[in-house]
Amino acid sequence: MRHLLNPLDFSVEETGQLLDLAKDIEDNLSKYSHVCDGKKLATLFYEPSTRTRLSFEAAMLNLGGGVLGFSSADSSSAAKGESVSDTIRVISCYADICAMRHPKEGAPLVAANHSAIPVINAGDGGHQHPTQTLTDLLSIRSLKGRLHDLTIGLCGDLKFGRTVHSLINALVRYENIKFILISPPELRVPEYIREDVLKNNNIEFVEMDSLDDAMPDLDILYMTRVQKERFFNEEDYIRLKDCYILDKKKMKLAKEDMFVLHPLPRVNEISVEIDEDSRAAYFKQTQYGVYVRMALIMTLLEVEKSC
Ligand code: CP
Repeated sequence: MRHLLNPLDFSVEETGQLLDLAKDIEDNLSKYSHVCDGKKLATLFYEPSTRTRLSFEAAMLNLGGGVLGFSSADSSSAAKGESVSDTIRVISCYADICAMRHPKEGAPLVAANHSAIPVINAGDGGHQHPTQTLTDLLSIRSLKGRLHDLTIGLCGDLKFGRTVHSLINALVRYENIKFILISPPELRVPEYIREDVLKNNNIEFVEMDSLDDAMPDLDILYMTRVQKERFFNEEDYIRLKDCYILDKKKMKLAKEDMFVLHPLPRVNEISVEIDEDSRAAYFKQTQYGVYVRMALIMTLLEVEKSC
């Protein structure tokens, strides 16, 4: 039995196969509509979510399966003090696979260690968000036609943004990826990403605070929200929350074939005037999230295609 806790749990080859399956799902959706008949997905969300939880549910429903779960810790017996390890033992009796989001880093790993069903990390604290990474990889591959030879700009809250940490971890495995890390000094990537992931893998990267200076070089601009829920004091959040706002003026500095991604939710960091720009791909990205989660559920449940 396999889990997905970290984007590196799948090799580059396995990730490629999963993205190929997601692409086939996109092209032939109806072919997959009964491959999970009789299977159940549990969504255990101890933290708020719109996209991840509902795209997992849509994914399982598209595959013919059923869904159950909770959308906040308050509406589960976690509010009475139940541990993650006890909860997953119980959920293992009710469902065939589960997706868990938790504010504590490592909680899905604890669950996996006590689970009889595959556990998918749907975001743990400021740590990892591997299914967002699969979504991002599918988006980049679909939009640019490749996952190599790209200059990727990551902009905003690079300190607390778990999607950024997961994406860097995944992309360093492809040839000739360069990163431009755009953030205020207080929100730079954590030391372990800089040293253990980027420097250890001899990845070309530069850290800067000007989005304008970075724009002309980028193939992908990955915008992120400043993560209010991870700040220790509100004063710092208020000072930093609008540090970058992508607008039409900034988009004029970018290549014609540069694409803008964002894991969403957006707050102020992308002006709504950009939504009509053909390079704004963040809503299309959410659709890719459904296909890739369908492919992931099938892979972890070892479900064969019906034809
Ligand atoms: N991208 C993402 O994780 O969004 P949600 O928090 O809405 O799930």
